[in-house]
Amino acid sequence: MVLAHFVESQQLDKEIIFDIFSKADEFRKNKNYGQLLNGKVLATLFYEPSTRTRLSFEAAMLKLGGSVITTENAKEFSSAVKGETMEDTVRIVSAYTDAIVIRHYDEGMAKLASTLSRVPVINAGDGKGQHPTQALLDLYTIYKEMGRLDGLKIAIVGDLASGRTARSLCYLLGKFPGNEIIFLSPEHLKMKDDIKEYLFRHGVEFREEKNLDEVLPLADIVYMTRIQKERITLDEYTNARGKYIIGENNFNLIKPTARILHPLPKIDEIKLPIEIEQTDSRVAYFRQAENGLYVRMALLAYMMG
Ligand code: CP
Repeated sequence: MVLAHFVESQQLDKEIIFDIFSKADEFRKNKNYGQLLNGKVLATLFYEPSTRTRLSFEAAMLKLGGSVITTENAKEFSSAVKGETMEDTVRIVSAYTDAIVIRHYDEGMAKLASTLSRVPVINAGDGKGQHPTQALLDLYTIYKEMGRLDGLKIAIVGDLASGRTARSLCYLLGKFPGNEIIFLSPEHLKMKDDIKEYLFRHGVEFREEKNLDEVLPLADIVYMTRIQKERITLDEYTNARGKYIIGENNFNLIKPTARILHPLPKIDEIKLPIEIEQTDSRVAYFRQAENGLYVRMALLAYMMG
């Protein structure tokens, strides 16, 4: 199956997922990456801030022998300031490059960009919509850490109304049998119905719980997310902040074989001492961020190579 653009995680089937994982494994083990994308140019067009997604895509492209042109703050440092639409910008940039990685503050903009671009468009996050490459690297991390993608209990915690990574991950988890998802969020930031309906339609067991400490001993994966201050009102933020925290007091409720994931950046929803973060195998979020490099290398190779 060809992946002309990658804007929603439900586009992936198991065959593509495992193709990309096996390529990511190769890149992880063998640092001699070759020049697979020599002569190709990737544009990173970011209308919202990023550390991991933009830099790992750029590093991935450079390591594969390609080149990168970037506008890291397209809202201020592109012709968007003069009033140019994203649609026009994408039409222009697609004439200069071989692929575009785009992050936009409005839901649906990556999909719209894909209808206008001559070259593959990859969604690096569209508002409250999706962040499919994050979900792919989250899934890869679960696979590497747990050795399987089925029969897992996954607690997804935080701002699930605005959290695009959680939304994208649900679509992927739903492709594997026997998974059970437990949502924990402040009352006003619950997972939206479109995802719940998708899970219901695909026979994926899920439920909503309130008490994190009761769920921690059950979970194989604890997927923490931050409260997305930039997408909600100050009142909503104040009412949500600090409701769900993993700290020294409840960390040991987590099973020794379980893993904590977080798409990062983390703010105050994980408060663990550096010694625990550095040494306890349950802390998987830094390995997860590193996996992002190999998964994005594999994705670029798959789509552009
Ligand atoms: N996880 C993630 O999207 O991080 P950045 O915002 O730093 O890219």
